[in-house]
Amino acid sequence: MISLNKAVAVVLLIIPSFSQAEQVDPQTGLIIDQGFDTVKKQCTVCHSAKLIVQNRATRQGWMETIRWMQETQGLQQLDQDTEQEILNYLATYYVPEAQGRRSPLVIDQWRPYKAN
Ligand code: HEC
Repeated sequence: MISLNKAVAVVLLIIPSFSQAEQVDPQTGLIIDQGFDTVKKQCTVCHSAKLIVQNRATRQGWMETIRWMQETQGLQQLDQDTEQEILNYLATYYVPEAQGRRSPLVIDQWRPYKAN
């Protein structure tokens, strides 16, 4: 039988994911808010939006990803307004410390597995 404490803990874990009522675009998986249309238009031409949704970066990190794609992957230059809108969107929803999302694992805290 599940103890009351465990049941309460489970409920507390579940509640925040429901109360965070972000609208998600079923086609791309991207959160629908300011900048979404632009990101959908500019950033899903060459690859799935999953590459975005599964990534977390700071604003600076996103900028570097965009520069990297421009330098090596054929992404066109974006005009200033478009780029700012994309960065605002990404830096709101796809940042490492985004609320309600698990923070990234810190790899150097891993320990090698030792069998007994
Ligand atoms: C001209 C084509 C093109 C467009 C447009 C494009 N990308 Fe990419 N992007 C790529 C390619 C190619 C890769 C590498 C894919 C792979 O490794 O499978 C990539 C990889 C990525 C990655 C993964 C980077 C990594 O470190 O693995 C992210 C995140 C990403 N793109 C985000 C975006 C965002 C945000 C936009 C909109 C500004 C965008 N992409 C628009 C071509 C494009």
